[in-house]
This record gives sequence, structure tokens and C-alpha cells, in this order.
Amino acid sequence: MGAEKFPELDPIFAKYRGKKGTLIPVLHEVQNRVGYLPEDIQKHVAQKLNVPLSKVTGVISFYSFFSTEPQGEHTLGVCLGTACYVKGAEALVEEVKDQLDISEGETSDDGKFTLTVTRCVGTCSLAPVVMIDNKYYGNLKPADIPEILAKYQDSGQEGK
Ligand code: FES
Repeated sequence: MGAEKFPELDPIFAKYRGKKGTLIPVLHEVQNRVGYLPEDIQKHVAQKLNVPLSKVTGVISFYSFFSTEPQGEHTLGVCLGTACYVKGAEALVEEVKDQLDISEGETSDDGKFTLTVTRCVGTCSLAPVVMIDNKYYGNLKPADIPEILAKYQDSGQEGK
């Protein structure tokens, strides 16, 4: 076996040892701990849970909440559910991309934001909606985006 890698993850594996259907919850906890799921971590999880690496990579690529790339300090999700879409959410996505010079799934150079698009986040009355971490911003126009981003870029802590 050689020297044990990632000892900080051992409590997670210990917690799920002997249980069934643990791959998704384990990946969740590992991602919470590490921030993302790079290849060496995926291999480690596969080995620890005694499942094929292909199963681990398959699950990670199937569920959008798993990421194989480092995440920004804040997750910025633009809702592209129906209500938001018809109220112009696509233009919000484009504005965020322009402002941060990133595409979906990417993280801004300053490490502040990772851009995602989401399905309905349950606040259609506020459409179109952007979520930053757990905070909602509603009734937005593209022109509102720079001001919202600036709050996080200046203080670094908005919404935490
Ligand atoms: S469609 Fe965006 S909040 Fe429901």
C-alpha cells in the first residue's frame, strides 16, 4: 500500500466504512474538505472505497455540483430556469462573462468567483435571479451586475 496519502480525509472514509451507497456522500464530504476533486483525489477515493476509478469519474461528471477544478471564493450562479430565462437571464450570463472574462464553470483570475448556471432556484417572483453563495439577487438587469460584483471584490466578504 505504501505511505498513506491524504490522511486528512481518513475520518470521512472511517465514517462511511462498511456502509452501502457511500460514493456520492463521500465525494461530497471530500469536496467540502478539499474544495474540488482533482484526479489524484479521485484515485484515492476509488481505492479507499474499492470501486473502479471509472465509476468515480462517471459520478463526478454526471452531477454538476462536483467539480474537478479549483473553485473561486464565491460561487456565482445565474438561474436559467424558465421564468428567469424569459426575463433575460441569458444577458446576465453574458454580462458576468464579460465582466470577469470567464466562461461557465471557470474561475476568475483573482480567484473570487466561479461562474455556474443553474436551474430554477425557487424564487421565480424575483426573476431574473443571480445567486452568489447563498444570497439571492433578483429583478436584475445586466447593468446591475458590475455593482454586485464590486461588493465582493471590494470587501471580499459580502454574503458570507
Ligand atoms: S426560474 Fe429562476 S428562480 Fe425560478
